[in-house]
Amino acid sequence: MSSVPTPPRHIAFIMDGNGRWARKRLLPRMFGHRAGTSATKAMVEACDQLGVKYLTVYAFSSENWARPLTEVDALMKLMVEMTRREIDGMMQNNVRFCALGNLSKLPEATRRELEMGVERTKNNTGIQFNIAVSYGGREEIVDAARAIAAKAKAGALDPETLDEAAFARHLYLPDVPDPELLIRTGGDLRISNFLLWQIAYTEIYVTPTLWPDFDKQELMKAVDAYHSRQRRFGKVLED
Ligand code: IPE
Ligand code: IPE
Ligand code: MG
Repeated sequence: MSSVPTPPRHIAFIMDGNGRWARKRLLPRMFGHRAGTSATKAMVEACDQLGVKYLTVYAFSSENWARPLTEVDALMKLMVEMTRREIDGMMQNNVRFCALGNLSKLPEATRRELEMGVERTKNNTGIQFNIAVSYGGREEIVDAARAIAAKAKAGALDPETLDEAAFARHLYLPDVPDPELLIRTGGDLRISNFLLWQIAYTEIYVTPTLWPDFDKQELMKAVDAYHSRQRRFGKVLED
């Protein structure tokens, strides 16, 4: 009997393709974003059932601020709506909700709703659902460098002792392990400034499937592909 391989502990998602999903149906882009929120909800449940401990989704990048104001506004409102709607369910399912990114740039209502969700679910012990909002990988690294420099200046940190682990403790979610698997929907072969530090040795899976169509079956395909990879970490593996 073959044993079931252990699932990745942490899966990160670049949820791309909402706009194209809508365009295919001759609908405004926001219909795609709305359909995308259903896929996100289903993905939290699917990952939980699979035994994944952390999932991190890219909901809005630092570059997405350059989109038309109407789309940005609508996305900010959608985030409020989704958090409000899903938080009771997250409590029932013991989901711990976390937000990462430059939250100070968010409209007050969006920031408050996200922070309330984080606060309400902070003692939950089940799967951790991280949402990256107004998030940029380079910005996260610069923020960490700034915090470290300030500590050094104040005499609270000796630059000589700084190593990778000490640096990583200054990132937005220092207690979350690096993802083993990164899934990008929508087919583009790029990282788009997501989790630059954390994905140093992450397995990458790209599917043409658009985010609103990405379901549990698609997740299983990605996880199967992950299990078929040989993770060498630079070493030579003996037969
Ligand atoms: C991803 O979908 C969601 C966000 C970036 C907010 P897009 O809006 O980028 O969809 P496409 O790539 O235009 O299809
Ligand atoms: C990446 O998608 C960001 C999110 C999914 C939130 P984009 O659609 O913004 O990325 P690019 O423009 O294809 O790089
Ligand atoms: Mg896109």
